[in-house]
Parts: sequence; structure tokens; C-alpha cells
Amino acid sequence: MKVLVATEKPFAKAAVDGIREIVEKNGHELALLEKYTDAAQLKEAVADADALIVRSDKVTAEVVEAAKQLKIVVRAGAGYDNLDLAACTAKGIVAMNTPGQNSNAVAELAIGLMIYMSRNQFTPGTGKELKGKTIGIHAYGNVGRLVAQIAKNGFGMNVIAFDPFVPAEKLEAEGVKACASIEELYANCDFLSLHIPATAETKGSIGKKLVGSMKKGACLVNTARKEVINEDELIEVLAEREDIKYVTDIAPVKVDEFKEKFGARFFATPKKQGAETAEANINAGLASANQICDFFATGNRKFQVNK
Ligand code: 3PG
Repeated sequence: MKVLVATEKPFAKAAVDGIREIVEKNGHELALLEKYTDAAQLKEAVADADALIVRSDKVTAEVVEAAKQLKIVVRAGAGYDNLDLAACTAKGIVAMNTPGQNSNAVAELAIGLMIYMSRNQFTPGTGKELKGKTIGIHAYGNVGRLVAQIAKNGFGMNVIAFDPFVPAEKLEAEGVKACASIEELYANCDFLSLHIPATAETKGSIGKKLVGSMKKGACLVNTARKEVINEDELIEVLAEREDIKYVTDIAPVKVDEFKEKFGARFFATPKKQGAETAEANINAGLASANQICDFFATGNRKFQVNK
């Protein structure tokens, strides 16, 4: 079988070497398409691939259409909003993700961004410490849970969380106060760390009402997806509330307006960096290769997301 790794933002070399080893050891062939600049290149490369590994690369209906032999696509990472699941399902293609494999990298970045903003983006002036502050975790999945634990155990922060899919008892058992509503979460934290996926329900859901209710001097930290933010409302609320900060690993569509209007109260990484560590690349890349080989060998669909 031909396994194509198509990454506009390439994996670390060690990850590619590891993927190759797994693929070849299982009797398959590896093809690489890195740093491509046009979807046409992806369509051409995927034409004769049996399996596809991607990161945030967009696997659109057109890409799926061009993939004449594709049986499985694995998003090496957590969020699979870049895959057209309906198109995959319609062609009988199995879509998977690799949950948890890059979580630690994202969690560490969330903490790093909090420190960066608390210390005035490392410019001269008096900053603030994380110790004793309250962090709100919006969605207690793999990343949210790690951020919570690092914040609590490493920085002595108070942790509160809201996740309708996680029982309050589980949160409380891990030293995290469960909020009864999303409103309660936003109104009671100094830092809000976003970990919701981008879905039809969550897109544009974080706006004026929630951010405007945050405590004085609060900071919104986004290592999730830019799509969950209502940018116009966030611009409005940051203009009204001169004490609030926004830091994001995913530059907003209106990044120039944010920069111009909010200066040091806003920061966006130049390119999404959450999962950009050698460790995360190796974890997610090798997991993808193993999942594909296992699928071909035994039909294992454990991490399928288009069921
Ligand atoms: C994820 O959903 O796993 C992260 O957003 C990682 O994205 P990346 O592979 O493009 O860095």
C-alpha cells in the first residue's frame, strides 16, 4: 500500500524517519509531500495513495475526489475540523485522529503564553505572577486536563472548569472546581484557557457576552481554533474593556486590526505552534503510521471519527 505523508508544515525529521520505518517494516511504501504551497499539489500526490497522513492540511471534498485509491486518512493530531468527513464517508474512506499524542506540547504552550502576557510580552515594566490566580478551563479534554494539572501543581493556581461531557465528580477528584455553567466559568477566572473543538455548535461562540463578563485584568488564552471566536465581538469587547488581554496560537482573520487597536494586550503566534515540538511530532506521526498499518493488517478502527 502507498502511504502519503502530506504536510504543508512538515514533521520533525525524527518523526518522518520513524513513520518511514513503521510503514516499510509493515511492507508498505512511503511517499512524502512537504511544504507544498497549492492544493493542486496535494490532489496530484494523493491520486494513487492508499493512506494519507496530514496535520492541519485541508482534506477537502476535492482532495477526497482526487484520491482514487484512498482507504484511510489520519489527522496526526487532535482536531479534525480540517477533514471533510462527509466526503470521506461518502467514499467509504475511514478518517481517524490521534487523540492525546500532542496534548502536552499544546498545554505547555498555553502556560507559556500566559506567562508571556503576564510579563508584558517580555518588555520592561511590572508584570504579574500566575501563583494564586484562577484559571478557567473551557473543555476538560486531553489538553485542558494537562493545563489544569500544570497550573495547579506547578504554579499554585486555582483551577475551575466547565465541560458538560465530564462529570463534576471527576473534576473535583482532580482538584478542579466544576462550574455549573459556561457563564460561571468566564465570570470567575483571571485566565481562560480555551480547549473546545471547532464544530458547528462552537464556531463563533466565544464573544462579547462571555469575554465581557471576565474579571478585571483577565486574559483569554486560545490554543484551540480561531473559528470558535466571534472576532467582531471580541474586538468590540477589547475596545470597551481596556483591562482585558487576548493571546492566541492561531492568528485571527482580522489579525492586523487586533494588533493595531490593542498593542501589547494582544499577541498571536506567527504560525500555529501548539504541537510544534519534536516530541509531539514523533508521538502523533508514529501513532498515525501505526494506526494505518494496524488498520490494513487487522481492520482496527479504534480512532475512527467518521462513524
Ligand atoms: C491539533 O489539533 O492536534 C493541533 O491543532 C495541531 O495542529 P498541527 O498539526 O497543525 O500543528
